[in-house]
Amino acid sequence: SHKRSAQPQACPFSGAPADSAEHGSCPVSDPFALARAFDAFDGPYQLDPAEALRWSRDQLPVFYAETLGYWVVTRYDDIKAVFRDGILFSPRNVLEKITPATPEAMEVLKSYGYAMNRTMVNEDEPAHMERRRALMDHFIPANLEHHQEMVRRLTREKMDAFIDEDRVDLVESLLYEVPLNVALHFLGVPEDEIAVLRNFSVAHSVNTWGKPTDEQQIAIAHDVGQFWQYAGTVIEKMKAEPEGTGWMHETIRKNVEMPDVVTDSYVHSMMMAIIVAAHETTSLASTNMFKTLLSNREAWDDICADPSLIPNAVEECLRFAGSIVAWRRQVTAPTTLNGVDLPEGAKLLIVQASGNQDERHFEGGDSFDIYRDNAVDHLTFGYGSHQCMGKNIGRMEMRIFLEEMSRRLPHLRLAEQDFTYLPNTSFRGPDHLWVEWDPELNPERAQPQLAHDHQRFPVGAPSRRDIARKVRVTEVRQEADGILGLTLQDAKGRPLPRWSAGAHVELVAGGYDRKYSLCGRSDAPGYDLAILREDEGRGGSRYLHDSVQQGMELRLRGPSNLFRLDEEACAYVLIAGGIGITPILAMADRLKSLGKPYAIHYCGRSRATMALMERLQADHSGHLSLHIKDEGARADLTAIVAALPEGGQIYCCGPERMITALEDLTAERPEGTLHFEHFSAHDTGLDPDKETAFEVELVDSGLTLNVAADQTLLDAIQATGIDVASDCCEGLCGSCDVTVLDGDIDHRDSVLSRRERAANNRMMSCCSRAKNGGRIKLA
Ligand code: HEM
Ligand code: FES
Repeated sequence: SHKRSAQPQACPFSGAPADSAEHGSCPVSDPFALARAFDAFDGPYQLDPAEALRWSRDQLPVFYAETLGYWVVTRYDDIKAVFRDGILFSPRNVLEKITPATPEAMEVLKSYGYAMNRTMVNEDEPAHMERRRALMDHFIPANLEHHQEMVRRLTREKMDAFIDEDRVDLVESLLYEVPLNVALHFLGVPEDEIAVLRNFSVAHSVNTWGKPTDEQQIAIAHDVGQFWQYAGTVIEKMKAEPEGTGWMHETIRKNVEMPDVVTDSYVHSMMMAIIVAAHETTSLASTNMFKTLLSNREAWDDICADPSLIPNAVEECLRFAGSIVAWRRQVTAPTTLNGVDLPEGAKLLIVQASGNQDERHFEGGDSFDIYRDNAVDHLTFGYGSHQCMGKNIGRMEMRIFLEEMSRRLPHLRLAEQDFTYLPNTSFRGPDHLWVEWDPELNPERAQPQLAHDHQRFPVGAPSRRDIARKVRVTEVRQEADGILGLTLQDAKGRPLPRWSAGAHVELVAGGYDRKYSLCGRSDAPGYDLAILREDEGRGGSRYLHDSVQQGMELRLRGPSNLFRLDEEACAYVLIAGGIGITPILAMADRLKSLGKPYAIHYCGRSRATMALMERLQADHSGHLSLHIKDEGARADLTAIVAALPEGGQIYCCGPERMITALEDLTAERPEGTLHFEHFSAHDTGLDPDKETAFEVELVDSGLTLNVAADQTLLDAIQATGIDVASDCCEGLCGSCDVTVLDGDIDHRDSVLSRRERAANNRMMSCCSRAKNGGRIKLA
């Protein structure tokens, strides 16, 4: 096997999709030239990695960077796919020196007996999972709750020391030391080691992810060598205290109990790596957070007024300006990624900062929005089996910093300054963050109890339920018989987030929350919705029809998009049944602006019940066919599908039987021809009286679980501490997808196509179950 960096045989880009060139990008920006010029240690990437790779996300999402010897991966889905498959994409190179050591530096390291090896984050399966399971206990949310008081106490001590001043470097005064102290407490490392550890961790970062000069290499090698030896002496000290508390003490005990799983080499390497993993990551993320929020004053002011926004604001900061901007993997067998051939041994730089702003996953991804309802999908903590074990500690610290600072110093401002960064591929945050305020205005001078009354957030990911922005109804219309039209604007008159064709929002009103597709023009200042009165439904639409008036304030989640338009097809057929016209109209608008050939088929009971007719006729008249039942014109779906040219795609939003018919008619067409969205989910709620329990084997983690009759598979998996993403929990969004190796599945979602169900290799864990109480095997 050849493990050298992959030098492509021919043109490395031959397989890359030649993506949309019409995004108005500069004509001189040839993507191949940009790929050749890409430098991860300098210029634009160091300033703003997501922005520096926008061209790649749009035109060349997997490219070979000659200067680095790595393949760079920049789109959200591709990065997630790499994280998801830890076998094909091994983490073995995660802590490798990205700039190889010079022979002189190697000599220096050797003289210290330096033997940094696998820890957790760079260990392959099956060793990794066994180890992770053995050491997971301290990290589960219930066992982290009691640390909140410690974090708050440390934060207050620091703040008390500067609150009466008028200017401070937040890094120096708060954000550097508290995470270091918290990490040492959590690990159980004696506190008198702080000063030494602090100097060493910078050396470790530069050594691993930086580009030191030959001279610097020598100095760093000495620091790293000393750090290594020092980590050894700390372990010896800790071993002398067999009853000690904290995760490293636990690790040392497990090393005695199960030396093959928690090996000596692991313990020593981890002692060194965990300081950076637990501390540098959190310090930098917190610094980025304050910089971002103070540069987006409206968000800061909203948080000061309503601290319940804090948990999601923290996720949005981790998404928009995370502290780990790129991570690594190595390909273990020849494969392709987004159409690009990757040889065995190819090294990948997967740029989370870029994926985190990918418009294909995050609506208006390059803008900062603390109300974003899928912010928590960010990749800053990684994803999959190696996902950050300490993420809930990092979150906890960031929330407490933000809660204390926004409550006690709401009048905080960013001072004029130039920001500097330590040049490296992966860890990002400014070296200093100067902030200023007028101490005379400190609210606690007038109300001393303000210094103490604080919010407390439960440990863990924020609940999606808590995230909603305030909007105002600026127009109410009768769109058609039984269809209400609304225009919504931000309650404070700010611009609402950008959205793409197919996107929906969730209206929260009158105790209901219901999803509605956006159907206005995408450049209009407000959001237009068309809402069908459903007397049979759960009541949300009736409430809106009966109660909504102009000027009323409502709450809104989103926008999010689960019905995306693939803009690369050569022709499009758009099919709407009834109220399904809403996303279809937005798609038609988009295709028109792209200049793509498209046809709209709009089916309805009667003209009077069909919404948005005027707009369709005004903007899409040459493309529109109406199929109106009471005028005797029913859609001939067979003929419509037959007329679709090769390479064309169908988008349908309509009732179940329309979608089923289209599935039949496109069964022989290539995968990806038909895209659909149901109006609403089937009833996926669990009725324990009708369900049976079943057994599931999780092969990668070596666990067997019982899923009780009143429990979903998703709940059962999450209860073990394994992260499976989820969003809708109704079988609509596809985020809780798991890989099936064996067993018969009772599919209950609205995500998978018939073909995908038949393949029997995936299931939506939030609603689907094993057939007849059988046993299933998951990866
Ligand atoms: C792994 C980021 C805080 C402990 C990781 C990974 C990332 C990351 C990107 C690799 C994930 C992957 O390969 O999929 C962060 C960020 C943090 C943070 C951005 C703060 C904002 C912490 C803290 C601790 C910690 C506070 C411990 C107290 C770990 C461990 C792993 C890990 C043990 C290895 C997990 C495994 O390989 O199974 N972290 N981290 N991290 N992190 Fe964190
Ligand atoms: Fe949305 Fe399961 S969480 S499909």
